[in-house]
Amino acid sequence: MARAGNCYNVADFEVQARRRLPAPLYHYIAGGADDERTVGANVQNYLQDIRSIDMRRTVLGRELAWPLFLAPTGMTRMFHQAGEIGVAQEAERSGVGYALSTMGTASIEEVGRATNGPRMFQLYLLNDEAMNFAMIDRCKAAGFDALCLTVDTVVAGNRERDLRTGLTVPPRLTPGSLLAFAARPRWCMDYLGGGAFSLPNVGEAGGGGDLTTLASYFAARMERNITWAAVERIASRWGGPFAIKGIQSVRDARLAASAGASAVILSNHGGRQLDGVPPTIDLVADIVDAIGDRVEVILDGGIRRGSHIVKALAMGARACMTGRPYLYALSAFGKPGVRRMLELMRAETERTLGLLGCAGVDDLTRDHIRLAGDIPDFLQDGASRPNVTHLRNIL
Ligand SMILES: Cc1cc2nc3c(=O)[nH]c(=O)nc-3n(C[C@H](O)[C@H](O)[C@H](O)COP(=O)(O)O)c2cc1C
Repeated sequence: MARAGNCYNVADFEVQARRRLPAPLYHYIAGGADDERTVGANVQNYLQDIRSIDMRRTVLGRELAWPLFLAPTGMTRMFHQAGEIGVAQEAERSGVGYALSTMGTASIEEVGRATNGPRMFQLYLLNDEAMNFAMIDRCKAAGFDALCLTVDTVVAGNRERDLRTGLTVPPRLTPGSLLAFAARPRWCMDYLGGGAFSLPNVGEAGGGGDLTTLASYFAARMERNITWAAVERIASRWGGPFAIKGIQSVRDARLAASAGASAVILSNHGGRQLDGVPPTIDLVADIVDAIGDRVEVILDGGIRRGSHIVKALAMGARACMTGRPYLYALSAFGKPGVRRMLELMRAETERTLGLLGCAGVDDLTRDHIRLAGDIPDFLQDGASRPNVTHLRNIL
């Protein structure tokens, strides 16, 4: 016997009313005018079956358990001995993708052996085609699934924090940084226990040096004229799923599609290159509208919560990429930190979908988004990125 005390929301009361009322009376209450679109639009979207939420997405030819890639980050072992291998293994465990950087402290072969998860290699185009092709061939031999070419680093960004802190790569004690290292003895022990520091994917050039050496290495070796013809040569040498990372305009996205890219990664290098460019979440809609039917669009940058992933997907992104969140977790706790970070972000993504009444990522549409410009200032969250889009829960 139903009792009022057993109803916990309006939907419960509606079910009980329908049971008790003669049909005409129930429909008199529930119905609306014409096609009842306004009734529907007014109502929140909770009456959905979300007993299981399907977050799988196939991206660059491999299925992800939920739509995230861990972004390529150079010299990961500087932060924790577990380094790239530890991160790649946690990515596989969580069912997300992992991208190894050209500037990685683990080799293509080591990562190839350490994980069977979706693996992408991030290529910086060097002005030596033989070296570029050699890396591509190594990726093929090591069983990588996808290649991505980063195009936003032809000139090194101006990172004034690094100049102030006296960062050297690999880390070395200098008069300027001595105190900073002395204050972190646990990091020092871990780092010193980790063996020699090298950049095995770029061969002899990765032997080490200070930031100036690295900057001059980049200046000397980075290709400063990445032509679309060169991109096509890279894509055809690789012959598999191919992404371009650093795309920020509709024009370049179209050219990427014509050059044979299977995905574009909308990225400003996490704000580390050209200051003042738009947040990548603002680019998603236009680029998806231009090429989304032909090419996968991946959003990179600013993801800090599962709800941020959901926003990007609702705008039309196929998947997201994240860098600093896993680096912070790795730096603090090593592999268990990365595991926990991924568990939290996965749970947040799933919970957000559930709260939106979506039984899977494929149910997300732009109707779940309200653009910041469309809502009053007092509702806008100015503190955290990405905040340009606000979730909304409507039919
Ligand atoms: C410490 C660090 C190192 C990075 N190294 C590379 C790299 O070697 N290659 C690359 O394509 N992007 C590199 N990136 C950029 C990331 O791949 C990614 O675009 C960025 O971190 C995304 O922004 P987020 O940190 O807000 O997620 C690096 C980012 C950081 C923070």
